[in-house]
Amino acid sequence: MKSTVYIETMGCQMNVADSERAATNLRRAGYDLATSAEAADVVLVNTCSIRERAEQKVYKRIRQLRGLSSRKPLIGVMGCVAQLEGEAILAKAPDVDMIIGTRATDRISTLIERLRDGERAVIDLDERGPGESWDVSPVERHSPFVAFVPIIEGCNKFCSFCIVPYSRGRERSRTATEIVNEVKRLRELGFREVHLIGQNVNSYRPRSEEGLEKSTGATPFCRLLRAVAATGMARIKFTTSFPRDFHPDIVAAIEEWPNLCDWVHLPVQSGSNRILKGMRRGHLVADYFRSVDAIKNSKRRMSLTSDIIVGFPGETDADFRETMNLVERCQYDGLFIFKYSSRPGTPASRFMDDVPESLKKTRFLELEARQFELQNTIYRSYIGRAVSVLVEGQSARSEKDLTGHSTCHKVVNFQSDSTQLGEILNVRITEAKSYSLYGQQVN
Ligand code: 5AD
Ligand code: SF4
Repeated sequence: MKSTVYIETMGCQMNVADSERAATNLRRAGYDLATSAEAADVVLVNTCSIRERAEQKVYKRIRQLRGLSSRKPLIGVMGCVAQLEGEAILAKAPDVDMIIGTRATDRISTLIERLRDGERAVIDLDERGPGESWDVSPVERHSPFVAFVPIIEGCNKFCSFCIVPYSRGRERSRTATEIVNEVKRLRELGFREVHLIGQNVNSYRPRSEEGLEKSTGATPFCRLLRAVAATGMARIKFTTSFPRDFHPDIVAAIEEWPNLCDWVHLPVQSGSNRILKGMRRGHLVADYFRSVDAIKNSKRRMSLTSDIIVGFPGETDADFRETMNLVERCQYDGLFIFKYSSRPGTPASRFMDDVPESLKKTRFLELEARQFELQNTIYRSYIGRAVSVLVEGQSARSEKDLTGHSTCHKVVNFQSDSTQLGEILNVRITEAKSYSLYGQQVN
């Protein structure tokens, strides 16, 4: 019987994509993929280290896994915690067998073999190998309709609070040919939506022009957007965009191509120039507003979402007020709010983490409450309008309802008896809920 592997994924879309890639390689090497940790001979935990809490969760989960199964599976730690902590993981969790860095997804079967040959703990924190490429089998995708397509890995920005440049290394862009061919293949396989993903998609900068020759645009990313749109894939989303590299030609491309979706995720992090400087973001509030205006003034009604950190070292009440003002001005369709968490090894970890936890919480709650009100108004403005929805599954709330995402990336639930999963249809919105829209199929 074949050995079975179970992969548990924490964190961001890049981890989801890495798990899909690892699963593809493991199956090719003769393993079966298990659907639960209890049933597996090897359990891999793909980890996140963006905030301290995410990292604590990893160690808790490893302890749980140990007690879970009488099979005593081999345990591997993949992803950002693996890359950052390396061998030090063994001091905290001695019964971990494998430490698999962020670029070692294609070599896991070799690591398992080394363990079976008698080695004690195996560690691979190396770069990707020369023959290794993004190759994901459709059966390993997280959805039969929506596919994540990484276009750039790593990050060169070194925002002072952020661990990503250390856990994922320098920016490396895939060639446009590779990306476009993958999207064409996905389309033939029946996928309806792709998400071009990367820490900073709009910093896309491939080594060669290969695959971009026919498409115009102000930056390589704008040219890639147009090249991907020309494949005819029904819906194309992209995330995350970095403000400093946000060119208004991105908006122009979205206006030209209906299959480029009307949603931009553009994290601002703070509304205070003083804090933005401390964060080393390389943009000021006014620069950010220029991009926001380009998005908001588009002919298409565009959805805008963001990330904000409260309680960065030195953040005063006045700084926080500026963040509140910014949120008022930006009218976000969605906002992820985080309390600052000091990450060892980042430049900001040398600053005093001087905003007390209680104040971080107060600011978090105030911002969350205001965003909730603003967002409700935006959600209510959809009532009476029709949005295009990709039908992704049964609604969790009601058996009668189906659920999916709009092109503007909102969750839409609706009533239907005849619809097939994977269809794209128009839904007229009748109700706005807190974090979703409700409606009826338009015939
Ligand atoms: N503390 C709190 N939030 C953080 N983020 C990144 N690093 C930290 C940190 N040290 C947030 C940022 C980023 C999102 C993915 O996570 O807002 O955009
Ligand atoms: Fe982190 Fe800044 Fe890079 Fe985003 S751009 S991954 S916040 S360092």
